[in-house]
Amino acid sequence: MKRVITYGTFDLFHEGHLNILKRAKELGDYLIVGVTSENYDIARGKLNVQQSLIERIENVKSTGLADEIIVEEFIGQKVSDIKKYNINTFVIGSDWIGKFDYLKEFCDVIYLERTKGISSTELRNKSNKILKLGIAGNGRIAKRFVIESKYVSGIIVDDVYGRNESHIKEFSNIFDLNKYYTNYDTFLKNVDAVYIALPHNLHYKYAKKALLANKHVLCEKPMTLQKEQTEELFNIANSRNLIIQEGIKTAYCPCFDKLISIVQSGIIGEIKDIDATFTKLISDKTLREYNCELGGGSLNELGCYPLLVVSKLLGTRPEKVDYISFKDEEKNVDIYTKVILNYKNAVATANVGIGVKKEGDCVITGTKGYIYIPAPWWKTEYFEIRYEDLNNTQKVFTSFDGDGLRYEIADFLSAINTGKKSYKLEEKDSIFISQIIEGINK
Ligand code: CTP
Repeated sequence: MKRVITYGTFDLFHEGHLNILKRAKELGDYLIVGVTSENYDIARGKLNVQQSLIERIENVKSTGLADEIIVEEFIGQKVSDIKKYNINTFVIGSDWIGKFDYLKEFCDVIYLERTKGISSTELRNKSNKILKLGIAGNGRIAKRFVIESKYVSGIIVDDVYGRNESHIKEFSNIFDLNKYYTNYDTFLKNVDAVYIALPHNLHYKYAKKALLANKHVLCEKPMTLQKEQTEELFNIANSRNLIIQEGIKTAYCPCFDKLISIVQSGIIGEIKDIDATFTKLISDKTLREYNCELGGGSLNELGCYPLLVVSKLLGTRPEKVDYISFKDEEKNVDIYTKVILNYKNAVATANVGIGVKKEGDCVITGTKGYIYIPAPWWKTEYFEIRYEDLNNTQKVFTSFDGDGLRYEIADFLSAINTGKKSYKLEEKDSIFISQIIEGINK
């Protein structure tokens, strides 16, 4: 029996996919089709795949051509699949010519002529118009955002708003942006969506204005410093079918997503404790982080990261919240805060500091084992699942590209294009985070 294998994403299944599957099937007696997993697609830079893995598997299944469908999860898997499934022939489209010659050591490699004039990318671009996303603010994060946005197709960043004309003019020159505005209303008229990268105390006002102008909003963290304000923003967005998302980049990173699913699968048993730390020692006290008027301080600046893990894994209803804070008396901001969240059957500690340095790791403790995520866990590409018997330790790796913001941007774009809100950072998580921050600030 001659066994053939081929691989693809098979997003928005089209004629080109059908043609290659038909021809691959004709080359043998048994056809195996490898469909790429979401995480693998993200890891290789395909950030805009529209359909879920299940839907894409269904696409292939419905052709009736595949005798077996497998999931391709990591680079290098093809070699082991070829050996494991006793493959005689590897087939792929001519857009890959030469790229898989290394497999010739293991089986025949055939590149089939690609069907002209059709691709998933083209279909995605046709069904979704390019999103014009404007940036409100021109600080450090706004700069990183423009650079990262180039890695996400289907989005264009060409407009920036700021109050200081010379600063935004310089910003738009450096990044070769088309237009800068000092008038927020005019800026809003020229964009489809806004990324709010202004100081914390301005998020609510500017996000609300954007939503009322029917623009989608990606708002830097913390979305607001008050629960009611965050709730109001979501209410406005929901009533107008708009997307508003909080920009905590950790939430959208592939490894963090994997971490949450793994813990939720019960692999370490019932969660009893979460201990997460994020410190960023800032010595320049003239910066925004030390400005109490602009919503500076450790908790406002960094609290959302550990609180995100807590919200995702223990939920949003702690029975009691305690905290200890140390202040910079002159600047009136907290330089270190420890928050202790008591749940019915678990406890969590969130440690954040801009004036201290501490190991920035995260430990999730369960009744069967624990997960250790080394610093910097908020942009991790690696964690360990550990048990009583150290021989059973499992190491989980997932790549983290660039500055990580690209995942957040891709998720925001996908929510807008599909109308499906992201599960990675939900309304309830953002409301919980602002509620805890508000409670402590009071
Ligand atoms: N393919 C093809 N003809 C096309 C499009 C794809 O023969 N017009 C083949 C590819 O060469 C590959 C398989 O179909 O062997 C799956 O490709 P996939 O990457 O899923 O499809 P694309 O349309 O190329 O997707 P994208 O635009 O996202 O790269």
